[in-house]
Amino acid sequence: MSPVTPASQLFGLTGEVALVTGASSGLGARFAEVLAAHGARVVLAARRADRIAALAKGLSGAMALVLDVTKPETFPAAFDAAEREFGPVTLLVNNAGVANDGKFLDTDPERWDNTIATNVSAVWHLSREFARRLVGLKRPGAIVNVSSVLGCRVTPGAGAYCVSKAAVAQMTAAMAVELARHGIRVNAIAPGYIWSEMTEAYLKSEGGLATIKRIPQRRAGDPSDLDGALLLLASRKAAGFMTGSTVTVDGGHVWSFN
Ligand SMILES: NC(=O)c1ccc[n+]([C@@H]2O[C@H](COP(=O)([O-])OP(=O)(O)OC[C@H]3O[C@@H](n4cnc5c(N)ncnc54)[C@H](OP(=O)(O)O)[C@@H]3O)[C@@H](O)[C@H]2O)c1
Repeated sequence: MSPVTPASQLFGLTGEVALVTGASSGLGARFAEVLAAHGARVVLAARRADRIAALAKGLSGAMALVLDVTKPETFPAAFDAAEREFGPVTLLVNNAGVANDGKFLDTDPERWDNTIATNVSAVWHLSREFARRLVGLKRPGAIVNVSSVLGCRVTPGAGAYCVSKAAVAQMTAAMAVELARHGIRVNAIAPGYIWSEMTEAYLKSEGGLATIKRIPQRRAGDPSDLDGALLLLASRKAAGFMTGSTVTVDGGHVWSFN
């Protein structure tokens, strides 16, 4: 039998270089903090330069990278900049996302396009750029995508978002089966409702309070509720045999939609 690895080593990320998209707020800011606290060097990517600069300053071994994930033509330069600072990126967290809510019959084509560009196409193109570099170097790595419980259930008025997050879960499996042979693991987290800039107004509304009552644990999550799932999927020691999985972290919500 293999010796037992203590948890501090099992989830240690020293030597990893992580690029987190949407790191300027909410889940992404927390992901960056957690990865840095476990030894990874972290590239915080988002459009709001002031936010990521301030967050990076507060972390050890972190840099800010201004990036609009709807502009795939800028991705090679973004990875080049990260590499110049820290070496090749070995962990990609595809977290940037938008919730352009709206009823199906009223869908504005521009909002649909922006949802798909941000939540779906960006994940595909960033992952491709990331993986091609690692394959070229013959180095292992990991991708953690951010799906949602709304990737497997639907709620009225959020159709485009639900479709986009279902695509992320399916993309996770599709990339996993092709990248396994290159030592690159691809997994996803499917959060339930978590307090963030994206959800705060809704969770405080009448509809949001009713939703919270339907969550078996009777609360929305805090970004820190995702720490364990992130570290598990990021760590090759802890999750070396996991790929293609979508891990739900939702207080049981996915079983109680109505
Ligand atoms: N909160 C929840 O309940 C929940 C549940 C399930 C899944 N999720 C997913 O979790 C992820 C993070 O959401 P959040 O709740 O933390 O929301 P948030 O606080 O609104 O954060 C969204 C992040 O995405 C970034 N972003 C949006 N469009 C971008 C673009 N074109 N280019 C680069 N970055 C962009 C934003 O940064 P800039 O504006 O600075 O660019 C921001 O950092 C999203 O994928 C969301 O769908 C959230």
